[in-house]
Amino acid sequence: MEAYLTDWFSLFFRWFHVITGIAWIGASFYFVWLDNSLEEPPQWKKDKGIKGDLWAIHGGGFYEVAKYRLGPEKMPEHLHWFKWEAYTTWLTGFVLLWIVYYLGADRYLIDATTLALSVPEAIGAGLGFLAAGFIIYEGLLRTPLRYNGLAFGIVLFIVLAVSSYVANLLFSARGAYIHVGALMGSIMAGNVLFGIMPAQRGLVSAVEKGESPDPALGEFAKLRSTHNNYLTLPVLFIMISNHYPMVYAHEYGWALLVAIGGIAAFARHFFNLRHKGVNKPIILVIGAILLAGVAAAIAPTKAPIKPADESFTDTKAIAIFQSRCVTCHSANPTDELFTAPPAGLTLDTLEQVESAGYARIKGVVETGYMPLANRSGMTDEERAAIVGWLSEKGKKGQ
Ligand code: HEC
Repeated sequence: MEAYLTDWFSLFFRWFHVITGIAWIGASFYFVWLDNSLEEPPQWKKDKGIKGDLWAIHGGGFYEVAKYRLGPEKMPEHLHWFKWEAYTTWLTGFVLLWIVYYLGADRYLIDATTLALSVPEAIGAGLGFLAAGFIIYEGLLRTPLRYNGLAFGIVLFIVLAVSSYVANLLFSARGAYIHVGALMGSIMAGNVLFGIMPAQRGLVSAVEKGESPDPALGEFAKLRSTHNNYLTLPVLFIMISNHYPMVYAHEYGWALLVAIGGIAAFARHFFNLRHKGVNKPIILVIGAILLAGVAAAIAPTKAPIKPADESFTDTKAIAIFQSRCVTCHSANPTDELFTAPPAGLTLDTLEQVESAGYARIKGVVETGYMPLANRSGMTDEERAAIVGWLSEKGKKGQ
């Protein structure tokens, strides 16, 4: 019953998190696009202090948008702030992290072959990791580095790369990815709370008092918002990556995260330039080639494991599935962590294994992703034999 309830909480908060995330990132994409697409306004608008304007059509209506150089003469009654999207995305994400990775630490966060942490230690390490990364970023923002956008970008990339490596020393492969993603998300939400919002409040109060706002606040906010802009695509990649063990469960999963994250940030650059009227499709082409290069580099090698010999019969294979997989993957799992077969997969019989898909199973066994956290204690010999057997079966099935 408890596991069932946890699943519902997980479902609800994941759903909520995706909705708020769409609202946040969607608004952020929209405003970046807006800012970069503004055109020179007619003179009568310029006289009112308007710096740029644009026309759009959407949902059956015309929209006229104007951006003021400083602010309107009089504060409008309703001013939309766009901050709750960011805060609720962070809050729901944190709750989800807690439900999936901290309540389920022995399943998803701890990998005894990486580091044998107890549950409280693993949760402490997770929270400490997030806090340390966040403090380092906020610390860097207070050094002269903030006056050099490119250098800051490079340093930030290195910090995140190191964090990916450190997470990989502490947590399970999946847990490591999600912690790097959560760190980026926390940095982004922190940028809204500690940089962008104060700058906007400064702007509003200056306009209300008829003073000119402090430009330093605005520049600082701009830097933070540029970082958020480049982090969006890498964060989204990490959030969906937990469906793809070929990436995160790879021997060099931490480096793949760095490589794909870097490519994603680079691809974002294309859109930023394009909004400014600079069209450089070569960036996307290079990005796609690099991504294809990564995919080729980690493609499973042809014959890593010797094929199962004749004596390795289907009966022997099923016996291994029975002892190492069926503890979870059966209608009534005996593993205390599960009340229903995970991923809806039962592997009791040859037919069930076949219908689950030989290639799919081979993928998760080869990468070491299954048995989950090796809770059922599969040996290396069994793994090699099963992978060999699955390859043979896969060939015959073609
Ligand atoms: C401790 C419980 C446990 C054991 C033991 C276990 N699994 Fe799993 N398995 C899971 C969970 C949980 C998931 C869902 C994981 C997810 O959502 O990424 C899963 C998912 C899968 C998937 C689907 C992956 C996908 O995304 O396509 C396959 C295939 C699989 N397991 C095969 C196996 C095989 C083969 C074994 C035995 C060698 C095994 N599992 C042993 C818990 C287990």
